[in-house]
Amino acid sequence: MCGIVGFIGERKAAPILFEGLERLEYRGYDSAGIAVLNKDVITTRKTTERIKMLREITENGQGIPGSLGIGHTRWATHGAPSERNAHPHVSNDGKFAVVHNGIIENYITLKEELIQKGFIFESETDTEVVVHLLANYYKGNLIEAVVKAAKRLEGSYALGIICAHEPDVLVAVRRLSPLILGVGIGESFIASDVTALISHTKTVMYLEDGEIAEIKKSGIRVFDKAGSPVEKSTTEINWNIDAAEKSGYDHFMMKEIMEQPRAVRATLEPRIKNGKIKLDDISITAADLKNVNRIIITACGSASYAGQVGRYVLEELLRIPVEVDLASELRYRNPIINEHTLLIVISQSGETADTIAALKEAKGRGARVLSLVNVVGSTIAKMSDDVLYTWAGPEIAVATTKGYSTQLALLYLFGVYAAELLGNRTGEECAEMITELQNLPEQIEQALILNDNIITLAQKYHKNQSIFFIGRNIDYAVSMEGSLKLKEISYIHSEAYAAGELKHGTISLIDNDRLVIALACYERLFDKLMSNIKEVKARGAKVLATAIVGNTKILTEADDVMYIPRTNPLFLASVEVIPLQLLAYYVARDNGCDIDKPRNLAKSVTVE
Ligand code: AGP
Repeated sequence: MCGIVGFIGERKAAPILFEGLERLEYRGYDSAGIAVLNKDVITTRKTTERIKMLREITENGQGIPGSLGIGHTRWATHGAPSERNAHPHVSNDGKFAVVHNGIIENYITLKEELIQKGFIFESETDTEVVVHLLANYYKGNLIEAVVKAAKRLEGSYALGIICAHEPDVLVAVRRLSPLILGVGIGESFIASDVTALISHTKTVMYLEDGEIAEIKKSGIRVFDKAGSPVEKSTTEINWNIDAAEKSGYDHFMMKEIMEQPRAVRATLEPRIKNGKIKLDDISITAADLKNVNRIIITACGSASYAGQVGRYVLEELLRIPVEVDLASELRYRNPIINEHTLLIVISQSGETADTIAALKEAKGRGARVLSLVNVVGSTIAKMSDDVLYTWAGPEIAVATTKGYSTQLALLYLFGVYAAELLGNRTGEECAEMITELQNLPEQIEQALILNDNIITLAQKYHKNQSIFFIGRNIDYAVSMEGSLKLKEISYIHSEAYAAGELKHGTISLIDNDRLVIALACYERLFDKLMSNIKEVKARGAKVLATAIVGNTKILTEADDVMYIPRTNPLFLASVEVIPLQLLAYYVARDNGCDIDKPRNLAKSVTVE
């Protein structure tokens, strides 16, 4: 949901801002802009196209002098995508420029107040109030003006600020939106995430909620929301720039699909020692688990679908009731949550606004919070009692693949670990499951190899306008993710249905040539699923099925089959999702869609 960058140093700012913005484009891409300060003049350039266009109109940034600047790539919330609404926003006197990620919830009140004072608004955005507030409060000290302005702002924000009166300082402030500071030699950076900094420095500083950073070439000073200095430490990033590049693939999504065996291995391996699961990163004890009478998994989108798989797995292993509650619903319900509830929060970015709100709601009611997060130091990680990081590396494609797979891996690890702590499974049973977990990366690799026929299947089926996914038990949970993957990147309408539920209404939509993707890998219910396949075939549907390798019975009904290797049925989702990701990818490619940046979407949904 919008990406922001900023630079101060000796080098020309504009090319550095462009590079950073290109790496953040996945966060939002309906317009973009930069503002660069040279002497005492702020120059802005904006476009409603991609960053490529900004490069074109500024000779790759060479046409804009100045070594201090800020940039923004937008996912519109307030005001349509247009040059007027694109950031940076500039004060009426041209002396202040601001980029913003988040939402200023009280902007209407502030706008009325500022209009009364004579400020003129040029855009429909919530952000513009910030720049006028700064101009209003500025009395010769930018940090003081930021402290005063921040006190007036409600909602979420990560802000990059420059001011022509103070040409040697870049200011950053955040509340509930991500912002990272990069510490170079004689130069400093701000960015919404590490990918935009990593080619310049691996030394970063995380700002806490409410903190304000005064960034100069000579160094960074951080203040709390009252303006008092705060001691901060730096962190070294342990991955390289290649992780944020396509490395020869046409799209990040395909690169990330292919990275899944490695990513799942990176999630599992460090936590399995001598055949035992060691979750040293969390402090949950057997006594804590015995205190739990209910588990609620909360998340959004694919992360919630990982949770749907987790529900089957954890209920089976722990015999504790598990619910999956969409974060956007949980936050506004009056949920039954207390100190006997374990809340499992799942989020790749760790910054999803609804998920953060659900976490707060549950925590306020006494739940213990365990989060499964990919981005280190993210808001959700910081707010949780315990965090398990997925260690997937940066995920750039808007459609998650390795993020989802590593979330599954953590759910399994936690399930087996907790089952042993609770005494629900013997040491021997757990050892067997751990071996099966260790085999997962290889099985994912086999699933990738087994499915090179999907290019042909995509060519055959990509023209379908409406597709149903059906399954039972874990197959059903996986069908939700398969359906979302397909619709978000190929724009084909699709729905995931519990196979047994179809006949209660939705089967009326099945007619000649309608494509039904039947997930038939959960063998305990295979015969039941076969009956459902027969029902849709009898009404003229074409059936593309998944099945465990060696299953020939499926061929008696299905038109085409995508095979996967055999796994422990509890861990089936990790392998079965692979052909569905590949199918979505190739269908989107055949339909000429923008795979990494699908329309209307953004990678990290930091607004409600
Ligand atoms: C998945 O492909 C989507 N882009 C989306 O559903 C995503 O999983 C969801 O927005 C949650 O994001 P998070 O994991 O960063 O919280």
